[in-house]
Amino acid sequence: MRTLAVAPWGRLLLAGCWLVAVGTVAGTKVLPPPSNLNYTFIQICTLNWTWNPPENVSSSCELEYSSDVVIDEVPQDIRAWSKSRFRVTDTFLNAETSFRVRSECKYDNGSEPSRWVEASLPPKGIPGTAAVDLSCVWHNLEYMVCTWRPGENASGDTNYMLFYWFDGLKNHQKCSNYSVHQGTFGCSFNLSFPKVTSTYPAISILIRGDSEEIRPVCASKNPTTLVKPATPRHITLSKVNDEIRVEWSESDTFPENCLVYEVECHTGDLDTAWRIKVKNNYTSIPSIDPKSKYNFKVRAKPDPTCYSSELCSDWSEEKSIGEKMDSTFYFALIITIPLVVAVSTIILLIYLKRLKILILPPIPDPREILKRMFGEQNDDFQSYARDDSVNTYDRLNKEEEIHSLILTETPESANSEKKNDKLCFTSDR
Ligand SMILES: *[C@@H]1O[C@H](CO)[C@@H](O)[C@H](O)[C@H]1NC(C)=O
Ligand SMILES: *[C@@H]1O[C@H](CO)[C@@H](O)[C@H](O)[C@H]1NC(C)=O
Ligand SMILES: *[C@@H]1O[C@H](CO)[C@@H](O)[C@H](O)[C@H]1NC(C)=O
Ligand SMILES: *[C@@H]1O[C@H](CO)[C@@H](O)[C@H](O)[C@H]1NC(C)=O
Ligand SMILES: *[C@@H]1O[C@H](CO)[C@@H](O)[C@H](O)[C@H]1NC(C)=O
Ligand SMILES: *[C@@H]1O[C@H](CO)[C@@H](O)[C@H](O)[C@H]1NC(C)=O
Ligand SMILES: *[C@@H]1O[C@H](CO)[C@@H](O)[C@H](O)[C@H]1NC(C)=O
Repeated sequence: MRTLAVAPWGRLLLAGCWLVAVGTVAGTKVLPPPSNLNYTFIQICTLNWTWNPPENVSSSCELEYSSDVVIDEVPQDIRAWSKSRFRVTDTFLNAETSFRVRSECKYDNGSEPSRWVEASLPPKGIPGTAAVDLSCVWHNLEYMVCTWRPGENASGDTNYMLFYWFDGLKNHQKCSNYSVHQGTFGCSFNLSFPKVTSTYPAISILIRGDSEEIRPVCASKNPTTLVKPATPRHITLSKVNDEIRVEWSESDTFPENCLVYEVECHTGDLDTAWRIKVKNNYTSIPSIDPKSKYNFKVRAKPDPTCYSSELCSDWSEEKSIGEKMDSTFYFALIITIPLVVAVSTIILLIYLKRLKILILPPIPDPREILKRMFGEQNDDFQSYARDDSVNTYDRLNKEEEIHSLILTETPESANSEKKNDKLCFTSDR
């Protein structure tokens, strides 16, 4: 019953609406469009679009301008309504940027918006020569590093230049610290704001070539999404009451409580590593096994309440604490012990050889003795020679004796060797 009663009312309402709509269309006057739409660059990647007001607009019309940006014929749906006769927009330069504007009468049902007036900024240079894959990282709130690759149609010797600007900077700046690494270009520039700042301006980046043929490209970067903290340094480990305390130095460029830290701990086996998240620059871990060695490393992450960046710092160097000997230490031992033994053996052998020389008699020349005995005569040379050969024979014999003596003595300690040494000298004399 109820549905039947409602139905005619609904139909009536619809019909009424239709009548109103027809009436409006029939009685409207189409507004004249704005004129002289033009643009000027007010910054490297920023345009100021300006236009003149439409003529003959009735005083009852509260005039407003509706505008939008069209890139490569696709409306960007960044519609805006304003009373002022200009609009500032970003441009990307490597695609055709168009701007369209029309006049509208606010609150006036008696007039239709004007047609769109459009102006465009065609891209310069050869297609495919613009820098591609531009990405930037803001390191420790101190400096920004941007990297890019050359466009596929750019010649191999193309030199790209980077310019940057942000609201608050009077003039755009030229980046001067360039690098090239495996075909990837990079440039870094200082970027820091007072520590109290909590909102950061967008950074406009322009990359263009050194010739007109290279297509320039613009990008706007939100720095809070690009924050990468510095690697935590000065990791100190200490044992306090069966707990391991890990501490590291805080970055002094970040406002307080804007970093969180991730501490990774493992005991030798990397599979058993576990991670702890902390807000302070220290943490304590109960030492489960006092005989185990614990390894720690730390990295910093921007706190989501301060920065919407997902970039972590690099891991710090690994520090360790505990009893267990390092495998490298074992390795060193395995290498050094035989080495020490070998070297000492060689030294011992050399020493023994030297000893042998010492043992050899400092040959008391019998000729000299004879000379002294019989004056300066040396007629009976033959007998001396024979004497000499006898002497040599004796010497060889003696040497052999000493040799065997030394060989049996070798395994003894250095101390006894010294005694032996003395012994040899005395026996020789
Ligand atoms: C736009 O303005 C520039 C000067 O800023 C002028 O040279 C140019 O002719 C203007 N273009 C149009 C279409 O009015
Ligand atoms: C844009 O140009 C208009 C007209 O020249 C000027 O009044 C306005 O201040 C400019 N806007 C900016 C942000 O420079
Ligand atoms: C504006 O109105 C004047 C006279 O009222 C007329 O001469 C002129 O042609 C009109 N201009 C436009 C653009 O309609
Ligand atoms: C325009 O239409 C709205 C409803 O669509 C109405 O509230 C308003 O009074 C109308 N204004 C004029 C000037 O007719
Ligand atoms: C490079 O140049 C060729 C020939 O002019 C063109 O067809 C191609 O689209 C260009 N590459 C890019 C990425 O624009
Ligand atoms: C240039 O950049 C490199 C790496 O990005 C950096 O290590 C160096 O300190 C920078 N030099 C200057 C003068 O900024
Ligand atoms: C940890 O932070 C405190 C207070 O901010 C500071 O005094 C201390 O030196 C820091 N620790 C290290 C190892 O830098």
